[in-house]
Amino acid sequence: MADQLLLSLGPRPESLPGRYVRPAPQRPRLSDVDTSASIPVIDLTAGDDPQIVAQIGSACRSNGFFQVVNHGVSSELVMKMRKIAGEFFRLSAEEKMRLYSDDVGKKVRLSTSFNVKKEEVHNWRDYLRLHCYPLEEYLPSWPQKPVAFREVVSEYCSEVRRLGFRLLGLISLSLGLEEDYILRALGEQEQHMAVNYYPPCPQPELTYGLPAHTDPNALTILLQDPHVAGLQVLRPAGKWAAVDPHPEALVINVGDQLQVLSNGRYKSVWHRAVVNSEKERVSVAFFLCPSNNAVTAPAEQLIGEKSPAMYRSFTYGEYYKKFWARNLDQEHCLDQFR
Ligand code: SIN
Ligand code: FE2
Repeated sequence: MADQLLLSLGPRPESLPGRYVRPAPQRPRLSDVDTSASIPVIDLTAGDDPQIVAQIGSACRSNGFFQVVNHGVSSELVMKMRKIAGEFFRLSAEEKMRLYSDDVGKKVRLSTSFNVKKEEVHNWRDYLRLHCYPLEEYLPSWPQKPVAFREVVSEYCSEVRRLGFRLLGLISLSLGLEEDYILRALGEQEQHMAVNYYPPCPQPELTYGLPAHTDPNALTILLQDPHVAGLQVLRPAGKWAAVDPHPEALVINVGDQLQVLSNGRYKSVWHRAVVNSEKERVSVAFFLCPSNNAVTAPAEQLIGEKSPAMYRSFTYGEYYKKFWARNLDQEHCLDQFR
């Protein structure tokens, strides 16, 4: 990536530079995507109503993805988060390059594609990666501009973290576990964020914003762009389906750690982000992760004669290292832990 570090520095090329072009069999085949599939929308107004628990359980088993509305994160804060994310990527080149790094171990960094040092083909995305818990530890190294960045993003993090804990409780209940089972399993836990920026792409049919992957963490809470679609999930029948933006909803997905904790009952589903030629797209992903030394293993209560443990136990530190050592769209990283 010698000639352009970040896509958001511009100028935008007329045709897709060769380093972004996927070999023909790996392209997204955009005309083949199911645009009418619906990802369940679950209304969280009613607290821990058994009906909500059942809806969440069913979504985690079949799709691995669901959306939530009336989730408790205020719409004003969501609006501010979206606004500041867009403003961040419009900062000057000088301001942005101060945060640039291709070192995947750095806890606050602005980068591009996925793992630029390692990949053969790059992705049409810039992203700001932030560790955000414990907040006091990371806040001093977060971006100082735009001026409201730290205030808005830290408030967003703490509200989304609260929602995340609530969802982990509902998910534990839906597996027949104690409400705090998953939260305890995560240990001290870590939280990261990725603020993604996908500029308009001259030839979207040849590349990805992010190629197919599963999330390494336990649970992801994604704020989609309210107007521009891009997220697609792989349905059990093998077809890619678009997740239409829902302006009020947050998109939730099961990550690899939850697939293990649930002994394979809940699915960490393949998903990808595609790009388009007309509009930029911004998304904000919030990841709940185990602490580095927490041990992930199938819950004892979910192991039995008919359902033997599907995975060995491992620390998140070990898992995360393996995850970044491979290409994003290779085999499921969990296959190495069976
Ligand atoms: C992701 O999978 O982390 C991001 C997907 C998106 O931008 O919609
Ligand atoms: Fe993801």
